[in-house]
Amino acid sequence: MTRSEPFSESILASPAKINLYLKVLGLREDGYHELDTLFYPVDDLHDTVRIEPGHDEHMYLRCPECPDLESTSNLIYKAWKAFGAATGFQPGMFVTLNKTVPMGGGLGGGSSNAATMLRWLNENAGPNALTTQELLALAATLGADVPFFLMDGPALARGIGEELTPASPGLSGMTLVLVMPDLHVDTPWAFQAWDEANDFRKIDDSLTTLGKDTKNPSPVSPLEVVNDLEPVVFAKHPTLRKIKEKLIQTGAAAAAMSGSGASLFGLYRNRDSAMSAVRALKENGTEIVVTECR
Ligand code: C5P
Repeated sequence: MTRSEPFSESILASPAKINLYLKVLGLREDGYHELDTLFYPVDDLHDTVRIEPGHDEHMYLRCPECPDLESTSNLIYKAWKAFGAATGFQPGMFVTLNKTVPMGGGLGGGSSNAATMLRWLNENAGPNALTTQELLALAATLGADVPFFLMDGPALARGIGEELTPASPGLSGMTLVLVMPDLHVDTPWAFQAWDEANDFRKIDDSLTTLGKDTKNPSPVSPLEVVNDLEPVVFAKHPTLRKIKEKLIQTGAAAAAMSGSGASLFGLYRNRDSAMSAVRALKENGTEIVVTECR
């Protein structure tokens, strides 16, 4: 397909993720942090991206629920631009983004939208298509979480989140309760607060080696959930600690914050306990998604 050829409309789901665990290994010279984290897709919570052929060479982005996102700083637009620059394939299009995944929730909504655009472009780029590795590398230039959304399932991540290994966290049969308080946490702030609380622990050689050992990921137990950003985020937003406590009180086998928050999740072995958590946590402004793990 060349840039002027028509294509048919696509309506694509752009799912959320949670971090089943998130360990911050240290601060890098470039300001990013080395992580050890386990990404888990939440397919039942997703934005919708509709791509229709354009009438010229531009992209026109509409977001009916969030006009603020209709800008060139939107990651969907940046993905389209970056893919065009890398491959020469940049078809004109109308994009409609219907937002369901909360922003500032630690659920990767914007990163997922970018990956959805990259995936579509690569599938339609014909001879201009990138290899999987090239596409992952391009995704990493857009954001640390973007490459994960090009994977097709849970993945262990090292580096800043871009060194990915498919993983099987073994949650089949468990019920996930995802709580999304009406509260936004700024990700750069959360990492900076972690730096301050951890005495700006710079990465040394041994930490770098640990963070890069993707060939031998540590075994993952569903109960091994920890999020190193919780102490600083909970100190600023004590209501989030209360939600975590309620998840545990209602019988969650494990509960944690996702990413830099503000969303939290509980994993339940028993669906009735999961539903009691929903009843206990449903308050004004708190959205909850319940989903069965596969
Ligand atoms: O890559 P992305 O733009 O999504 O990251 C947002 C911000 O989160 C970064 O600017 C950085 O402050 C912080 N971050 C980090 N270490 C990571 C991922 C994100 O410090 N591994």
